Amino acid sequence: MAVRIAPSVLSADFGRIAEQIAQVERNGASYVHLDVMDGRFVPNITWGPKVIADLRKRTKLVFDCHLMIVEPERYVERFREAGAEIITFHLEATTHAQRLLEYVRSIGAKAGISICPQTPVAMLEDLTDDFDLALIMSVNPGFGGQRFIPHSLQKIRETRELRERSNATFDIEVDGGISLENARSIAAAGADVLVIGSAIFDTPDCGRTTKQFRELLDGAATH
Ligand code: DX5
Ligand code: ZN
Repeated sequence: MAVRIAPSVLSADFGRIAEQIAQVERNGASYVHLDVMDGRFVPNITWGPKVIADLRKRTKLVFDCHLMIVEPERYVERFREAGAEIITFHLEATTHAQRLLEYVRSIGAKAGISICPQTPVAMLEDLTDDFDLALIMSVNPGFGGQRFIPHSLQKIRETRELRERSNATFDIEVDGGISLENARSIAAAGADVLVIGSAIFDTPDCGRTTKQFRELLDGAATH
């Protein structure tokens, strides 16, 4: 399957957000990546379920909701009701991750688990039956426009090995610092989904840039 593109609207122009989502949709995006930040798990604050519910009416793209909030168990149901199809929370943000993954699936969403740069891939080892997506953070979460941490490539390879070893089928998503310069090597390391924020929305034409990523990745022989 081709590597999927998940534009992160954290870097979009919020005055024109529906229009920009339509542009990336027309040019090869698969998901809309929605970063929810609470000012506690990460220093920044973004939006809650109402914004997601309103955007849900404007596009057919899959809503990939990345919760950077403490105690995500208190909110997953509301994000599901708002239209999130993939709900990813941080392993570091909750005590009972396995229970929460089960719960996310039980309310009809795909369950994603994310790890920050300091968390080893081995921490996912006992959960491989319970999640549909592993989100490897390649920057410290909280802000768009940061530099890709090179060690993340090794973590992507380790996640792919973990998937093979455990006969699991989850997707591997990578988030942070992805650009036209490094996207192919990230795909080659084993990523199935690339989250791309500033490298798409901080350009004059987000549709055209999405198309450039699409062509670049379609040209890349990966796994
Ligand atoms: C960062 C967010 C990312 C962010 C990525 O905490 O999780 O989704 O939007 O932005 P770029 O692609 O600019 O690093
Ligand atoms: Zn994100």
